[in-house]
Amino acid sequence: MTTANLRALLEWQIELGATEAIGDAPVNRFEVPAAAPKPAVRVAGAAPPPPVTESDPIADARAMAEGATSLEELQMALAAYPHCELAKGARNLVFADGQPEARLMLIGEAPGRDEDIAGKPFVGRAGQLLDIMFREIGLDRASPDPDRAFYITNVLPWRPPQNRDPKPEEIAMMLPFVERHIALAKPELLVLIGNHACQALLGRKGITRLRGTWAEAQGRPALPMLHPAYLLRNPAAKREAWADMLELQARLRTL
Ligand code: URA
Repeated sequence: MTTANLRALLEWQIELGATEAIGDAPVNRFEVPAAAPKPAVRVAGAAPPPPVTESDPIADARAMAEGATSLEELQMALAAYPHCELAKGARNLVFADGQPEARLMLIGEAPGRDEDIAGKPFVGRAGQLLDIMFREIGLDRASPDPDRAFYITNVLPWRPPQNRDPKPEEIAMMLPFVERHIALAKPELLVLIGNHACQALLGRKGITRLRGTWAEAQGRPALPMLHPAYLLRNPAAKREAWADMLELQARLRTL
């Protein structure tokens, strides 16, 4: 095996979705005695997680989300939420990035590989395109000025394996946290990035029809936009995306 062959094999495994190198010797999981369940991890200051009941993950999510009185507490509540299987396969909880005081809050779908590694939303190729688009209308997530900044999160805070689409039950579990996130950040305007954010917050899909027309989510004006990952695959759609950015800029100027 040459170094180039070995590297190509590794890259192929990463393409297939392998995220960890585990060991040389295979482990027969059928022969390993089942481990005793681990006690739940407690985060200092976080509300104690409710007992894990198979019954109602959504009710538990709502209780935990509503118990959070700040963004920090909400992040801790998410970290302690026991029902979402995605948390087990993810490297990091991806909570949010940017300026929480900003007038504008963006909501995407779910972290990808780069976001899972960095623990921040929209830092991969799609995120870089998104930053360029927003910079073109004078907005920068890192700006200390709330009028020139934005705050950004996702419907799901953990990466789905192999970047598969979120399942409806995962969106339903995470929705109380997203709604609380919006209530605590108090943005004046929302941007919903792609179909899954529209499905979660507007109850509607069909982003190519929804994009560019203001709707209402959580009592706030919400503009659906094409996902930058879609724009990377369909550069011709950047024309429509640009029209939507100008619409957003015009709306921000009226505030
Ligand atoms: N796509 C998303 O919807 N969110 C991210 O954080 C990255 C890519």
